[in-house]
Amino acid sequence: TAPPVPAPAPAAPPAYATHRAPGCPFDPPPERYRLLAEGPLARISLWDGNAAWLVTRHADQVALLRDERISADNRLPNFPSVSAGSQATRAHNRTFISMDEPEHNEQRRRFTADFTVKRINELRPRIEAIVTELLDAMEQAGPPADLVRDFALPLPSLVICELLGVPYTDHAFFQRVSAVMIDTRSTPEAALAASQELVDYLGDLVAAKEKDPGDDLLSRMAVQYLRTGISTRDECAKQARLLLVAGHETTANMIALGVCALFQHPEQLAAVRDGEPRRVVNAVEELLRYLTIVHLGRRRVAVADVEVGGQVIRAGEGVVFATDLANRDPEVFEDPDRLDIDRAARRHIAFGTGPHQCLGQNLARMELQVAYPALLRRFPGLRLERPLAQIPFREDMAVYGVYELPVAW
Ligand code: HEM
Repeated sequence: TAPPVPAPAPAAPPAYATHRAPGCPFDPPPERYRLLAEGPLARISLWDGNAAWLVTRHADQVALLRDERISADNRLPNFPSVSAGSQATRAHNRTFISMDEPEHNEQRRRFTADFTVKRINELRPRIEAIVTELLDAMEQAGPPADLVRDFALPLPSLVICELLGVPYTDHAFFQRVSAVMIDTRSTPEAALAASQELVDYLGDLVAAKEKDPGDDLLSRMAVQYLRTGISTRDECAKQARLLLVAGHETTANMIALGVCALFQHPEQLAAVRDGEPRRVVNAVEELLRYLTIVHLGRRRVAVADVEVGGQVIRAGEGVVFATDLANRDPEVFEDPDRLDIDRAARRHIAFGTGPHQCLGQNLARMELQVAYPALLRRFPGLRLERPLAQIPFREDMAVYGVYELPVAW
């Protein structure tokens, strides 16, 4: 009798693609995008060789990101990390973004009052003043300019610094360490060192505010939680780090990448420049959908079995939610690859959804609603100073965008 033939080893699932097609910097990587048409779930391999489930469709993502069987606790085994650096800093990075209920909400609600629509509306005049100052400086210096360095990055950075009470004079330092923290190429040592440097800096700042509080978010935190012994200095510093990093990297990239996308659609650019505020509000939602800059997916792990489209995600398995694919799901958005600032885009999940939905979304929206038209009105002839193919896109960063955007007018 013939010897038994060994069963073929199961093929490793395809790698989770992160590189975009040449000439298509605004669309998801093609290998990843294909999975949306293939089914609601796909098996993928991550950077470390671990397998995880990719949830592709909008409806499933919205349901599961609100499901208690899906955990955000990144200390659990099989939690799908984004990179070696982020894996190394997991334990060190514990804040409410990686907690489940009830702990998550206990901590998040300390900050919700600072980010309500009403509070953010009160900031509008100050945001407009910062925008005017930055545009004045750009105009005075004359073309060309790097829109990232001169406008897109300083705007949200100045705003979050004022809100938190972080001295903007230290921006070179915290922008450098934030960039290391969100760079998927950072070594574990470099990511840990950057994270620790920022925590040390913010720990000192919070301690100083405990003694001599001002009128800012970190002072209120120091008085309510540090002085009362409810939280340690380290916990306060880590929450401050989350707010500082999330508060400027994201919005900065939306501003620069959004302008870059509008350059490809001159009529829509003109509409944002000259349009009524309602149209600009909608354009911002559409750009959030179309660009989905937090592009590496929401990361979670199942803590109980969950059925999706006839397949089962087992307890203990890692799950990645491809929010970029959800935002291009034709079931929800007609002709999803077309940028259309007048479409109904509000159902996008560029800010996530469920309990972890972005805390700063009202602030981000306000900054974008002010920034795009003000910039385009100040420089009606604004244009890219180089061909699109020569613009460096941030494929390797956890927040997508452009490293620089050379413009002239
Ligand atoms: C959470 C995107 C601006 C603070 C999130 C999440 C996304 C996101 C996708 C969900 C995380 C998850 O489900 O795991 C964005 C985008 C922004 C932006 C696209 C800009 C256009 C901001 C700003 C702040 C901020 C300005 C200000 C502090 C946070 C915080 C969380 C969060 C604290 C964690 C919320 C929680 O876990 O409960 N953001 N964000 N974000 N964002 Fe934003």
